[in-house]
Order: sequence, then structure tokens, then C-alpha cells
Amino acid sequence: MSCPHTSLKTWNTFQLDARAKNIRIVHDAATLCDCWQQSRAVNEPVLLLGEGSNVLFLKDFNGQVLINRISGIAVTETAGAWLLHVGAGENWHRLVDYTLDQGYPGLENLALIPGCVGSAPIQNIGAYGVELKKVCEYVDIVHLPSGREQRLTVDECQFGYRDSVFKHQYRDEFAIIAVGLRLAKQWQPVLSYGDLARLDPATVTPRMVYDAVCHMRRCKLPDPAVTGNAGSFFKNPVIAADAAASLLARFPHMPHYPQADGQVKLAAGWLIDQCGLKGLQRGGAMVHHQQALVLVNAGQASGGDVVALAHAVRQHVGTQFDIWLEPEVRFIDADGETDAIRAIA
Ligand code: FAD
Ligand code: EPU
Repeated sequence: MSCPHTSLKTWNTFQLDARAKNIRIVHDAATLCDCWQQSRAVNEPVLLLGEGSNVLFLKDFNGQVLINRISGIAVTETAGAWLLHVGAGENWHRLVDYTLDQGYPGLENLALIPGCVGSAPIQNIGAYGVELKKVCEYVDIVHLPSGREQRLTVDECQFGYRDSVFKHQYRDEFAIIAVGLRLAKQWQPVLSYGDLARLDPATVTPRMVYDAVCHMRRCKLPDPAVTGNAGSFFKNPVIAADAAASLLARFPHMPHYPQADGQVKLAAGWLIDQCGLKGLQRGGAMVHHQQALVLVNAGQASGGDVVALAHAVRQHVGTQFDIWLEPEVRFIDADGETDAIRAIA
């Protein structure tokens, strides 16, 4: 289905008023391939979108936007787990709700993350101590030029912190069409993060974790339906242990999270906050007052305003801490994705 309007404003949670040449909602893999091939045959760029909650449009997009709405949830079970095969265009949070309603626990820590199921593997979505990789069994992709479908195992997805093979080897010319999840029947609550530690592991239920996560998220993060934003704008920096130790000597209260490989993750929001940048504005773009890691569209922001603000934030933090933040959000230029670090350097 082709949309009569070509404004992308309702298709990106930053609510930026960029335009595309054409916007098409697609419900199956074959149509996705057809549309992609038609555009490429005339050298027109193509952009795949789920719900546009992790993109920043720098300019009008000079081609066709394909909105993935491949639907369907199929459930089977083994003695130890529920196995879900989910269409890439299903809404992630509705899936979380559905699984809890059915009595399949495991996704409760990932409640309220915007976007589609098919986008979740791309940056290995994570929140409140759980990442997608914990529950992902496989990802189905289609090679857009040939229509060839392929299943990648969880190991082949090469999941890392906000990273996967879908940002590298399978970034161009491939679309995610379905995701397989394995939810263990023997539920083990993950209560390590923030206020979840207050819950009693002996009596807690998946719904209680879900409610606590939704409450914390609603308190901290701006609702994109009200204030345009794309969640955390930057990734949390992961640095060498000795660099973290010298920062901790200067800032003993700095939040820090030791990683399995010996490196240390820092909280970019804390670094930005320490620089006193909450409320900093460039044009219509602003550092959020409650969560400094979130840049918001305070009204009529352009992509250029957000880039100028991100540049200023990066310079302040770099000058004060010698840590150079990298965007988590994907930057989309007139002809497709562009290097986000270079854009704000
Ligand atoms: P989009 O923004 O539509 O697309 C993202 C990228 O994937 C683009 O490059 C796009 O071209 C590509 N793409 C989209 N669909 C496909 C496909 N089917 N095949 C191949 N490529 C595709 N993220 C977290 O990890 N944790 C959080 O806690 C979190 N909280 C957030 C809170 C808010 C308020 C917001 C606005 C965002 C938050 N995010 C969070 C980021 C975002 O929700 C996730 O990155 C989400 O997975 C993006 O889904 P989407 O469908 O909107 O992707
Ligand atoms: N902090 C401040 N000031 C701020 C913001 C944060 O001091 O303005 C401090 C907090 O007090 C806390 C620490 O920084 O000690 C971390 O903050 P928070 O718990 O809010 O988490 P975050 O690191 O800012 C990450 C993810 C979120 C995810 C939450 C919960 C990244 C880039 N962001 O945020 O994901 O929801 O943890 O797990 O990893 C997203 O990716 O879009 C996203 C929202």
C-alpha cells in the first residue's frame, strides 16, 4: 500500500518533518523484495523502517521508504520452553504484553521499548539487565536483490552491546523478516538493575517486574507521542579498566559497570549531566531535563538542529572527560545511512 502523503513526520519518533519520494507499507517478504528491486533499478535509494524510533533524518530522503509490517505470531513448545516465531513488523511492546498474558515469562524487563520486533536484533535491544540475545533463538532475513531467505542462529547474529551482524555484514541489501524467541518455562527473574533490586526474588512475579519497569521508564523517559525523541541518543561508552580507574579516582561517585571482558561501561547520561548540559538547546533540539542522554525535539527541530546539539554535547563531554561519545541513533541522509560519528565530530 502506497501512502498518499510523503511526510515522514509520523514515521519517526523524533517527529522531524522530513519527506520521502514515496512511502510504502509492506506486509510480506516478496513485496519487500519487489519494491526494493524496482527502486534500485532506477538507482533510487531505499530505506527500511519499522517504527522509526532509532533514526534521525538529516534531510529529505531522496527515495522510497518501506515500512515493514510483516505480521504473525506462532507459538510451539518443548518440555523446557515456549518457542515463538514472530513477524518482523509486529510491535515489540505488544509482543511483551501478549507473552505475559499467555503466561510465557522472559520479556518483562524489555517492556515499553518502542519499535518493531524485526528491529530488535539490529542493536540487540536491552534494558534493565536483559538484552534480546538472552531470548533470541534465530533471525530470518531475506536478500533483497535475489529474494533468497536465510536463517541466522543466535551465534551468527554476533550480538554485542547495541551491536549485531545486522549493522555490519547484513546491513545493506538484507531485511529482517522474522525473529525466533525461546522463553524458558523455568522463570528466573532478573532484578539486578536499579529499583528492581527492591523486589523480593522469593515472591516476585513477571507482571510485578513488568509493572516496575514500565513505572521507571515512564518516570525517566519522555513519551515520543508527546515529545519527539529517539531514546538514548548516544551509546554508553565502554572503556579500558585503567582509564576507568583514573576517572574513578577523580570522580568516586561516577556510575560504572564492569563488563565480562574486563572493560568498564560508563553512563553517558551522567557524563552529560556532570557537564551541566540539561536544557542545552540548539534551534528546536534540546537535552532532556530528566534524562541527559535523551535529545528531544522541543518543537520544530530540524535534523540539523539535532546534529548541532549532539556536536556540542560531544565536545563538552570530550573536553571534560576525554571520552568521545558515539551516537546510538542511526543517521539518515538524502541517499541513505551516513556515518553518525563523522556527522557530529
Ligand atoms: P527503526 O528506527 O525503524 O529502524 C532502525 C534501523 O533499523 C534503521 O537503520 C532501519 O533502516 C533498520 N531497519 C528497520 N527495520 C528493518 C528490517 N526489518 N530489516 C533490516 N533493517 C531494518 N533501545 C534499546 O535498546 N533499549 C531501550 O531501552 C530503548 N528505549 C527507547 C525509548 C524511547 C522513548 C525511544 C524512542 C527509543 C528507545 N530505544 C531503546 C531505541 C529503539 O526503540 C530501538 O532501537 C528499536 O529496536 C527500534 O525499532 P524501530 O522499529 O523503531 O526501528
Ligand atoms: N544519570 C545521571 N543523569 C542523567 C541520566 C542518567 O546522573 O541525566 C545516571 C543515573 O542516575 C544512573 C546512570 O546515569 O546512575 C544510568 O542511567 P539510567 O539507569 O537512566 O540508564 P542509561 O545508561 O541512561 C541505559 C540504556 C537505555 C535503557 C536503560 C535501562 C543505553 C545507551 N541506554 O540508559 O536504553 O533503557 O539503560 O536499562 O545503553 C535506548 O537505548 O534508547 C535506551 C533508552
